[in-house]
Amino acid sequence: MADRGISILRNSKMNASTAFRQQERDAYGLTGLLPPVVETLDSQVRRCLLHLSKKSNALEQYIYFSQLADDNQTLFFKVLSTDLARFLPIIYVPTVGAACLEFGLIYRKPNGIYLSIEQRGKVREVLANWPVKDVRFICVSTGGRILGLGDLGANGMGIPIGKLQLYTACAGIPPDCLLPLLLDCGTDNEDLLADPLYLGIKRKRPSFAELDSFVDEFVEAVQDLYPQCCIHFEDWKGADAIRLLAKYTNSTCCYNDDIQGTGSVAVAGLYSALKINKSLLRDQRILFFGAGSAALGMADMIVTAMMQEGVSEQEACGCISLFDVDGLIEPSRTSLNPDQQRYLHPYAPTKSLLAAIKIVRPTILIGVSTVGKAFTKEVVEAMTELNSRPIIFALSNPTERAECTAEEAYTWSKGRAIFAAGVQFEPVKLDGGTYLPGQANNFYIFPAVSLAVYATQAKRVPNELFIEAAKATAAGVSPLQLEQGMLFPPQNDVQNLEIQTAIVVTKKIFELGLARVKEPTDISDWIHSLLYKPEYVHGMQ
Ligand code: NAI
Repeated sequence: MADRGISILRNSKMNASTAFRQQERDAYGLTGLLPPVVETLDSQVRRCLLHLSKKSNALEQYIYFSQLADDNQTLFFKVLSTDLARFLPIIYVPTVGAACLEFGLIYRKPNGIYLSIEQRGKVREVLANWPVKDVRFICVSTGGRILGLGDLGANGMGIPIGKLQLYTACAGIPPDCLLPLLLDCGTDNEDLLADPLYLGIKRKRPSFAELDSFVDEFVEAVQDLYPQCCIHFEDWKGADAIRLLAKYTNSTCCYNDDIQGTGSVAVAGLYSALKINKSLLRDQRILFFGAGSAALGMADMIVTAMMQEGVSEQEACGCISLFDVDGLIEPSRTSLNPDQQRYLHPYAPTKSLLAAIKIVRPTILIGVSTVGKAFTKEVVEAMTELNSRPIIFALSNPTERAECTAEEAYTWSKGRAIFAAGVQFEPVKLDGGTYLPGQANNFYIFPAVSLAVYATQAKRVPNELFIEAAKATAAGVSPLQLEQGMLFPPQNDVQNLEIQTAIVVTKKIFELGLARVKEPTDISDWIHSLLYKPEYVHGMQ
């Protein structure tokens, strides 16, 4: 080992801290730099859990985890693995939203690359500053649309960091091949531009043309420097997200989680819900409240899934309607983008959601609007009047943006709603029964798909892979769990679930001829052999 002494303790990938054994301390010049006790990883974990229990709120716990990740990578992932269901909401949604809002204040250390639009022409040079040469995933955001919180500019860096932590925590992808990246293109958020602690460049966002030429340079540089790298686009502004995915999806190993991951998790939830309703996806009428990148990603994925059930593309599109900030999408609407026009139907104009429900008569209502409390009592009652078991998904996050709460959906529908949200709501007790609301969260999907891409070095990441992931996720919900209203598998066993999902997706990648490696004889054994395990390798730190 080239490093000695304090530099080992300051390197989170090497640091075992008090778990360094005496021979290691002697060999690496650590004696005296650590307290004398030699601990195990498990006793370190106990200390961390105690620390966490003393933090007064989720944001404090998030900060504690960030520092732990900076200090000792193995211990960080080990602590997470002790109770993933409890800690996912801390390192990811919803707490990561609060962290991004406070990012300028809570910033401690860089954990990825900040690539600014002012560095155009030098993108390859900046990327090459990253110390790891075999980068296999870059999660990249412009901070343009962070969760439901809008444009947070460079403070959106919390998202790529958190997403990539989930690759490892949920699917065992080795952390050293993951690079969080913030493409700093400025911000249109006036508060940030005026904030002296804001960490990004202080300029307004560029035109489409300027942005696209910067992204072209970025994508080219990534492919040149890291030929096996998959680019994961995350939390871009809706229009940018849709345009850039369409541009790169057929030529580059990339995916957009807000579009494809969201589409997949929605389809997984619908597959589960329809098992309760004993009906097929192709027989549904679906109304989206919100017609941005999440809605369009879901709608397109649902169309693909319906077509697999034997209907034409036109018939599938006919089952889906959209409602956005300007009302129901119908022929009198101007300035619709081509993706929205796919779902344009000859309805009468209306700006009222309630009226739209009466016009469309949906069996499924999906909220992806960022508008908290938009599903009022009247809206839920209208859905319940139309359907014996209305399917209502309130997917906007963070929590205060959810279109309704689980309690509201169950109470107002008198327990008949089949409900899921984008955040985790507590179980609801109603009329002697207990309902367990599902969390339609992409973390069921993108780490598993990424593990399959990692293993196979897939050339591309088409929608078919996300449909496979949706089916595998829905298959992880037991009949008893379905009866209790759960549409997604329990989170405490998420890593095993995702490995099973990754195995299914890996088979599909080989079937589609997209793999860049030879197919092994036993895919399951092979996938398991690739997984990162948070354990110290003594004598080899
Ligand atoms: P976006 O900004 O692209 O789209 C928002 C859409 O909502 C736009 O069509 C807008 O016109 C519409 N809208 C805004 N105000 C409205 C109003 N008053 N009435 C009706 N429509 C209105 O955002 P994006 O990417 O589509 O995300 C939307 C939400 O979905 C966010 O909160 C995001 O966090 C959440 N989301 C949840 C996921 C999950 O797995 N639960 C995954 C991805 C996104």
